[in-house]
Amino acid sequence: MPCCRTIPLFLAVLWFAAGYDCQAQQRGAIATKAMVVTAHPEASRVGREILRNGGNAADAMVAVHFALAVVYPNAGNIGGGGFMIWRSMKGECSALDFREKAPRRAWRDMFLDSAGNPVPSLSLEGALAAGVPGSVDGMIQAHKRYGTMKWRTLLEPAIALAQRGFPITAKQAADLNEFHSRLAKWNGTEQALTARSVWHQGDTLRQPDLAATLIRIRNNGRNGFYAGETARLIETAMKQHNGLIDKTDLAQYSSRWRTPLHGTYRNHTVISMPPPSSGGVALLQLLSMWERRATKDCTFHSADAVHLMVECERRVYADRAKWLGDPDAVRVPVRGLLHPAYCESRTYPIRMNRATPSSTVTFGNAIEFDTMPQQQPNRIDKMRRESEQTTHYSIVDGSGNAVSVTTTLNASYGSKLVVAGAGFLLNNEMDDFSAKPGSPNMYGLLGSEANAVAPGKRMLSSMTPTVVEKDGALKMVVGTPGGGTIITSVFQTILNVLDFGMTMQQAVEAKRFHHQWLPDWIYTEENSLDSATMLELSKRGHTFKQREPIGRVDAILVLPDGRLEAGADPRGDDTAAGLD
Ligand code: GLY
Repeated sequence: MPCCRTIPLFLAVLWFAAGYDCQAQQRGAIATKAMVVTAHPEASRVGREILRNGGNAADAMVAVHFALAVVYPNAGNIGGGGFMIWRSMKGECSALDFREKAPRRAWRDMFLDSAGNPVPSLSLEGALAAGVPGSVDGMIQAHKRYGTMKWRTLLEPAIALAQRGFPITAKQAADLNEFHSRLAKWNGTEQALTARSVWHQGDTLRQPDLAATLIRIRNNGRNGFYAGETARLIETAMKQHNGLIDKTDLAQYSSRWRTPLHGTYRNHTVISMPPPSSGGVALLQLLSMWERRATKDCTFHSADAVHLMVECERRVYADRAKWLGDPDAVRVPVRGLLHPAYCESRTYPIRMNRATPSSTVTFGNAIEFDTMPQQQPNRIDKMRRESEQTTHYSIVDGSGNAVSVTTTLNASYGSKLVVAGAGFLLNNEMDDFSAKPGSPNMYGLLGSEANAVAPGKRMLSSMTPTVVEKDGALKMVVGTPGGGTIITSVFQTILNVLDFGMTMQQAVEAKRFHHQWLPDWIYTEENSLDSATMLELSKRGHTFKQREPIGRVDAILVLPDGRLEAGADPRGDDTAAGLD
């Protein structure tokens, strides 16, 4: 029987917390009423103003989403998609899938050459790389169900930011400079993003074409994007660049309400995104496996902790590659993958003194467990050098409604193609399909038939917008960008708070590592693991690869006295805006 099941919880927490220096209880921004944390100061400010003016978390979400499409154009979007987890002040949860879809004329082998080999450039840049965007419909659906303010009002801040412009940050200037030639290749130098070849911090970015599109969305709602002038401009761009999306694809797009996944972890309930994101399934599997085997020696970044997390991760990502895909198109054995007996069967082959080579790890027989009765049912109500620029925002309003949203164009600036005259970037989400079973995508992630391209299908995601409850009350709102690393970053952030006793800000700032089954190495941020730990892990058979920063987690923690603590990731320009 694993140690953690036989010791009282408070002792376990004390043991785990001992591994982290809690002396300096450095907290993030604190607010008594409401909190917004996003990737950009302007977007956080917009969200706070909506809350200040009486809006709720859904109203703030809509305003923040459109503001990010303006002020954070490498990932904020109207030309992409995403996922939302909503938790009302009464504890009712829902999940909204506004993931992109393959166009009707897409086909299974569309990204293969005549010899049957993947041609990555086709799924990464240009019109063919784009899925039918879902963000605008997602915002409309969320607003219809939960919003209280007028739709028009929620669009105004984004329109003003696009029309008047805003001063870009130093990171944004560096980013625009890095991507200038690729953006100019597709769009020329007349677009807002390519108007200057060298950007500096403080330069004003104005986007008049984007403002005009946002005005159409403000005035006409769904038809401002999926019909009329915007649809015409998208179809024109597609024809010009040999893409597939047409007006019928746009007219037929709709987001889907799905039943969120519920799991338990050390007396907490964890609520996350079901397929077509792999995020919720994988996160709940990781927490379940870790809880079964973690001992008092598994302190923060200790060799035992890293080893156990990595061993769990390689098994979970092997499952992900085999079983996860669009549940509207393929059978995804979610119940089996989350069945306690299945998680137990995946956990116990782990040896604490030796790494299991990934070449010997394969997916489990989740189908067998899919129909098995559950004793403790889970409620089911480098990678290539492409940056992983999804974005995440977390919001809690004054009544206690919470929303966790992860949204993306996939790569930084998506397909790099701006819809001429409409001023927004199209995603390159088609790369999240498995172009050919067994061939890695941009993130080095493998997939199988479950995630093959098909007309109208949604591509598999790793996005993991998540809410954590304790004793039926809201405890944490969390999520991050980072492609395949999203799942392991959310996993680590939750453990940092619940097991290692960190504040929300410390949990977000803490260095991260990542393993995804294949390739078989532990990706580490610079200085993430100390040399003694790495030596011990090497002795157990692990190998390492240092890489650029992993994720940008934006999260909110409800403190015992009810105040809200933000965790805004310093890896980016991420900012918290609280309301007292
Ligand atoms: N495009 C990244 C993801 O959905 O996981």
